[in-house]
Amino acid sequence: MEGWLRGEAAAALGRGTRVCLYFNGVADVVGYGSLGQTRWRYPHADSPKTALVIVPAVAVRRVYWGKPDGPQGDRYSSQIMQHPIDESFAWPGSPPELGLFVHPDNLAAIKPYARYGFRPYFHTYADPASGVIYPSYLRPLARG
Ligand SMILES: CC(C)(COP(=O)(O)OP(=O)(O)OC[C@H]1O[C@@H](n2cnc3c(N)ncnc32)[C@H](O)[C@@H]1OP(=O)(O)O)[C@@H](O)C(=O)NCCC(=O)NCCS
Repeated sequence: MEGWLRGEAAAALGRGTRVCLYFNGVADVVGYGSLGQTRWRYPHADSPKTALVIVPAVAVRRVYWGKPDGPQGDRYSSQIMQHPIDESFAWPGSPPELGLFVHPDNLAAIKPYARYGFRPYFHTYADPASGVIYPSYLRPLARG
């Protein structure tokens, strides 16, 4: 986590991305989240690029995965994911959707993202270093 904060997070802050650290009731760091802006072709592959909100990175410390015991909606993962979702409703310019990328094998993330209303989207990111193609997901921000 420290590496992420000093590296990617610090650079992202300079580009206007918001980064949050989350603590539990005993002041222990549980995880981090972030929220920024991107431009994807939306709503179709041949549409012009549109400003969307994006969660560049979110994580829960390993000791807190699946915790606390009890309903899924009360888990740290849910609480940490709910915050950027709530924040994105107030994002300047009222972008229509909140997006993110997930490693295709990261089922521990894909499962809860489905719970928060994210659906697969056609846009992808090809990591030049690893060659991994990251699929994207979108969640509508319309209220009502
Ligand atoms: C993604 C992350 C935040 C999820 O936190 P978490 O506390 O594990 O999430 P939850 O326990 O609420 O949900 C994970 C679900 O995936 C399941 N799961 C975990 N590992 C799995 C695996 N390898 N295969 C299938 N399912 C898996 C869990 O059993 C759980 O299922 P359930 O909701 O039916 O109980 C956490 O795993 C993490 O920080 N990972 C490292 C960083 C990361 O990958 N971030 C996301 C991409 S930026």
